[in-house]
Amino acid sequence: MTQHKSYIVGNWKMNGTQADIAILKAIADAAGSDSAVDVGICPPSTLIAAFAQAAGGIGIGAQDCHAKASGAHTGCLSATMIKEAGASFSIVGHSERRADQGESDADVAAKAGALHEAGMGAILCVGETLEERDSGNAIAIVTGQLAASLPASTSGDWLSVAYEPVWAIGTGRVPVADDIAAMHAALRATLTDRLGAAGAGVRILYGGSVNPGNAVEILAIPDVGGALVGGASLKAETFLPIIQAAP
Ligand code: G3P
Repeated sequence: MTQHKSYIVGNWKMNGTQADIAILKAIADAAGSDSAVDVGICPPSTLIAAFAQAAGGIGIGAQDCHAKASGAHTGCLSATMIKEAGASFSIVGHSERRADQGESDADVAAKAGALHEAGMGAILCVGETLEERDSGNAIAIVTGQLAASLPASTSGDWLSVAYEPVWAIGTGRVPVADDIAAMHAALRATLTDRLGAAGAGVRILYGGSVNPGNAVEILAIPDVGGALVGGASLKAETFLPIIQAAP
């Protein structure tokens, strides 16, 4: 399998109201027809349907889904529900959910499997804490996280992985390029080990304080297939330059 084009995805987290559809439209007008880059935005669930209607060439995703198709899970949404609302993919295993909601690797694998079964894409997040980075074991920890978060049997087509060091999220701190390259190479090895040839085509995004000032350098690092962007995706004037920086 060959590598796909770059994939730039905005994770709006718990931000955004109906008034912000204007921001999506500005992004879609400027970048939605750029066939060189795949662009996605994951708004809060309340905005998936409205964003999907206005998205043009931008893919709309959710930020999470439940592993089960239906049932007594108050406040949760299944993969088929977010799909019906207009999402074509979802983030799973973001470190904020792993920390705030106590999600385990097994939970993340089940959610990713549910997305696959629903015919949707998944962006599966992994990343180390500062303590884990300082321990010198970040690569073993993060590749272990990925191996344990992959659904049991899968091909690579529907899957992307996002490496998001927890200490780089929203902090303005970014690992040096060599550390990003080393982690992405190790994640690639884990993917090909588990998925065979299909693992070579899975895009591995970098996430954590990506902004218009560092995007060119980050996106040029070997095996960085795109970016998962938080804060800088909330405004067209900071998200568009990141999209334009994609090789
Ligand atoms: O999922 C994206 C994210 O966690 C990175 O956030 O604000 O550091 O770009 P930010």
